[in-house]
Amino acid sequence: MNLLELRGVSHAYRQGGLFGRRRQVPVLEDASLRIGAGECVALLGPTGSGKSTLGRILLGLEAPDRGEVLYRGALLRDGRGRMAPESRRAIQAVFQDPYGATSARFSVLDVVAETLWPLRLPAAALRERVAGLLDDVGLEPPMMDRLAHRLSGGQLQRVCIARALAPGPRLIVLDEAVNSLDMETQARILSLLGALRRRSRVAYLFITHDLRLIRGFADRVYVMQDRRPIEVDDPLGDGPVPPVMATLRAAILPARPLPRGQRLA
Ligand SMILES: Nc1ncnc2c1ncn2[C@@H]1O[C@H](COP(=O)(O)OP(=O)(O)O)[C@@H](O)[C@H]1O
Ligand SMILES: [Mg+2]
Repeated sequence: MNLLELRGVSHAYRQGGLFGRRRQVPVLEDASLRIGAGECVALLGPTGSGKSTLGRILLGLEAPDRGEVLYRGALLRDGRGRMAPESRRAIQAVFQDPYGATSARFSVLDVVAETLWPLRLPAAALRERVAGLLDDVGLEPPMMDRLAHRLSGGQLQRVCIARALAPGPRLIVLDEAVNSLDMETQARILSLLGALRRRSRVAYLFITHDLRLIRGFADRVYVMQDRRPIEVDDPLGDGPVPPVMATLRAAILPARPLPRGQRLA
């Protein structure tokens, strides 16, 4: 059974409306995707291709216009749009901007504890738990009493990863989670994510527009083409790939000629 599955999902946003007519802008059309337990699945695509929308739908943060989201074979949200507390804990997220994803008033402890409050731990047990999580992501436990926004981007992203790990999730949606970091920090965080996955068997949906980041990292790869994810066997090989993949390749490998018949979009 798949851990998480998107089946025939369509979604549109309503745009405009102030002066002109409001119109529906389709973002996903008949989109399907599956993530197995412990799998690292990459979702590639240029900016604006609907990756974050798909991620929010998988997280249950947004309801699709049509189609189904299944968590372990059952609907993720009930008829009233509510998620079971168990699936809420099981699916966590890390976003691109760690400062935007945390409150400026919060200490590091407060940030990591956000996903732990349903456990109602006594203060000392909570500090111990957070210390262990900070250690897991390569941070010194005494850091928990500092204000989160005093940290560097790389340190704060580690705190966000600790927050996502805290409830023992089965899946973490990483939406451009390393894209705002410098290259050296990117490499460190990617190796941390790899180590955490080997240890905890958590699955990742790794969303990015940068093809370089998935090399040696993803078990399976999808690319957004015509508003739906298409699975690609060998994204960096010489075989045939969807046209949008050639665009992503050209962005990182400018010296490489495009395959015959394909042009930069
Ligand atoms: N909340 C929203 N309201 C209206 N339009 C949106 C909203 N979120 C995203 N869009 C539009 O949907 C399209 C896909 O966006 P997004 O899912 O963020 O793509 P990506 O993550 O691949 O860059 C874009 O054209 C974007 O402008
Ligand atoms: Mg996005």
